[in-house]
Amino acid sequence: RRQRRDRLLALLERTAAYYVRVLWESPEAEEARAYLQSRGLEEGALRAFRVGYAPDTWDRVVLGSRKAGYGEGELVAAGLASRSSRGTLIDRFRGRITFPLADERGRVLGFGARAMKPDDKPKYLNTSESELFHKGRIVYGADLARAAAAKAGRVVLVEGYTDVIALHQAGVPEVVAQMGTALTDAQVDAIARLAPKALFCQDPDRAGQESVAKGIAALRTHNKGRSTRAVEFRIVRLPLGEDPADVVQKAGAERMRELLEKAIPIERFEVERALEQPDSSTDDMLSAIKPIIASMSATLLRDELVRLVADRFAMRPELVNQLLQAPDTRQ
Ligand code: GTP
Ligand code: MN
Ligand code: MN
Ligand code: MN
Ligand code: MN
Repeated sequence: RRQRRDRLLALLERTAAYYVRVLWESPEAEEARAYLQSRGLEEGALRAFRVGYAPDTWDRVVLGSRKAGYGEGELVAAGLASRSSRGTLIDRFRGRITFPLADERGRVLGFGARAMKPDDKPKYLNTSESELFHKGRIVYGADLARAAAAKAGRVVLVEGYTDVIALHQAGVPEVVAQMGTALTDAQVDAIARLAPKALFCQDPDRAGQESVAKGIAALRTHNKGRSTRAVEFRIVRLPLGEDPADVVQKAGAERMRELLEKAIPIERFEVERALEQPDSSTDDMLSAIKPIIASMSATLLRDELVRLVADRFAMRPELVNQLLQAPDTRQ
């Protein structure tokens, strides 16, 4: 068993190295190189993350791996190949930019692979769940972020591969991604192992905001656990329509770092969100805000939030305080 696992890991490792070689050395990857350049991603950072290119052929990886002594079963188990309807083995990743997905120790367990044209679906094709690969158990970039996160005492959590690479390149190496989906408990634990503080820096769109809400819930649950290391969370707000990679490319590294420093506490994020609900009445907003403020001790932040609500409704802060303490009389 041990031996089987080691062989699969070695196969994934050599395939990652192969994709990297193709990206930088092969004429077939010219479009891929141009694409990455157009995204503002630099060779140094791309090499650090071992980004590569899977050539647009049916069975290059299959043939090379078999020549190196790997069996068909191993290629399938490693998630690198599948059987076609005609019974032949074909590469899973073809004509895509490859992002190795490694565990905390840097061992490649799978790949995310991006199409280069907008009408190529899916945009990202990942390794399927398997005996080796469980997407929900890893955060992307953990191996490279580990030392930097320990030093900075914090980790930045973004959504995607390109965000991680762009931030790394922008002088924020303590960055990992949960890879799109809602943060899993295992990913929260992985973050807690990296640093005691986390900045939640998700895309400023509906999906990203949902991900923040779910992430807050997952973190609160985690922090209630007695045997786990608590993580203090803050939320980073980005300009509308720009994810972290876009900000780095359009506004620059310094601007991105400024936005990270402006991260706000969870309570402030929640109060602001309640105040931003477009079809919400004053009463609705106040009852949404009430439990948030009620759970806070008397701090500067609490006063600041009361003032924020007061300003929004043009009320005196004393009145807001009263309203927030009064029992809710709505049904
Ligand atoms: P770019 O468009 O290359 O900048 O990617 P992005 O990271 O900004 O994409 P997006 O915000 O849409 O998604 C964030 C992350 O979710 C990606 O990095 C992937 O890890 C994951 N993801 C996005 N689209 C897909 C998809 O079609 N399939 C899968 N499996 N994962 C996806
Ligand atoms: Mn997104
Ligand atoms: Mn936990
Ligand atoms: Mn993006
Ligand atoms: Mn994005």
